[in-house]
Amino acid sequence: MARKNGKMRSFNVAVVGLSGTEKDKGQAGVGKSCLCNRFMAALADDYSVDHISVLSQTDFSGRVVNNDHFLYWGEVTKTSEDGIDFLFQVIEQTEFIDDATFQPFKGSKMEPYAKRCSATKITSAEKLMYICKNQLGIEREYEQKLLPDGKINIDGFLCVFDVSSVPSRTIEKQVEAVSGILNNLMKTKKPIVLVTTKNDDGNETYVKEAEKLVSKKEYKGGIMLVETSAHENVNVDIAFIVLAQLIDRTRGRARILPYIEAARVR
Ligand code: GTP
Ligand code: MG
Repeated sequence: MARKNGKMRSFNVAVVGLSGTEKDKGQAGVGKSCLCNRFMAALADDYSVDHISVLSQTDFSGRVVNNDHFLYWGEVTKTSEDGIDFLFQVIEQTEFIDDATFQPFKGSKMEPYAKRCSATKITSAEKLMYICKNQLGIEREYEQKLLPDGKINIDGFLCVFDVSSVPSRTIEKQVEAVSGILNNLMKTKKPIVLVTTKNDDGNETYVKEAEKLVSKKEYKGGIMLVETSAHENVNVDIAFIVLAQLIDRTRGRARILPYIEAARVR
């Protein structure tokens, strides 16, 4: 494993995807938080299907959200099939909604989500790792882990594409939003993996749309696709490991199985 000063190098990943108010994303989120939660949580008991989205001003200003529109999910080590350890630090780029106005909270500089989520130099002083929804307001009762040095440099992106059908969200809308995000991510020149989420409840035609997206000629075959389910814990680790291997070009390539096959061998 690549080490610097005896310390394992960390692969810093931002998880992004359609975010915003109910008008933008429909009646449910695309699955960014569940994907992160499944990846970080070693124990099944630590996996929750319900994460923060609409908040009070107090919770927005608390140490976990810290007046940002991203969450720090902490760090975790995973081992690839060929026995190599990878240390990951993960953030989720989302948009928190004020429970009084149902509009996004105003941060210091509010760029459109598609642009903001492509940031590679992220800072937030004294920000605490997010663990679960219940943690807010009673942070002291949970492990208090800080975002190291109040900053993180992003090495690659996992862009989420929800293949389940969600009320009040059209597939066209998601394709448009994700295209806008991918265009901005491409400008960073960092590796990108497109991750389909909720394949356990997936819709064949939506999966096709995701395949169409990654094969767009603008992306020159540079975006890989991994089909996942956080609820069923299928292909989640592989999605992050494939991204780490793209970041660290000297490493091998993990084999990516289509959802159906991965679900069978799990
Ligand atoms: P915001 O951050 O609010 O934009 O949402 P998000 O993208 O983080 O979505 P979140 O992970 O909170 O999930 C939204 C909804 O989708 C929840 O009701 C989840 O239970 C559901 N969901 C997430 N992952 C899966 C999955 O793998 N399968 C199924 N069937 N549902 C899922
Ligand atoms: Mg979320």
